[in-house]
Amino acid sequence: MKNIVLVLAAMVAVTWMASAVNGAEFSSEVRSLMDGYATEAKADDPSFNGFSAERGRELFYSKRMHSKGKERGCTSCHTEDPTQVGRTQVGKRIEPISPAVTPERFTEARKVRKWFGRNCKWVLERQCTPREKGDFLTFMMSLAD
Ligand code: HEC
Repeated sequence: MKNIVLVLAAMVAVTWMASAVNGAEFSSEVRSLMDGYATEAKADDPSFNGFSAERGRELFYSKRMHSKGKERGCTSCHTEDPTQVGRTQVGKRIEPISPAVTPERFTEARKVRKWFGRNCKWVLERQCTPREKGDFLTFMMSLAD
């Protein structure tokens, strides 16, 4: 009996440590999306060795001069503070992008893919690379630790 309790306690501890290291949990469908991004990132660059919250943070805060002549960044709509309500260019409310505040963030693969598609194009005038997408999601999920 005592051994069982010890084994259970060890399992709980290991699970807890794993979740502490990995930050907030991805839903299983977004987990597979991330696995796909990792496979593609590795194919693009064999020295790829995992996503980085720091690079994701840089992508979120970076600004780029658009060919239409105005600076654009992810923060143009999601604001400089991921915990705050954002605004589209026509002033429509966007719930805070941080999953710490909006728990349903980044839980649906279809939604994530759709908005990476639109927003990367709007900001960067190209699609985000698989590595950029994985880095961005890693950064966002780290906010919900
Ligand atoms: C022109 C305004 C705008 C800009 C700029 C913008 N976004 Fe968004 N973003 C939105 C809107 C609108 C939504 C969808 C509404 C919502 O989820 O509340 C959204 C949602 C998302 C989602 C899906 C969130 C989820 O819940 O699954 C991702 C991922 C995302 N944006 C990434 C980015 C990235 C990366 C950038 C910078 C390259 C960026 N966005 C810049 C407007 C913008």
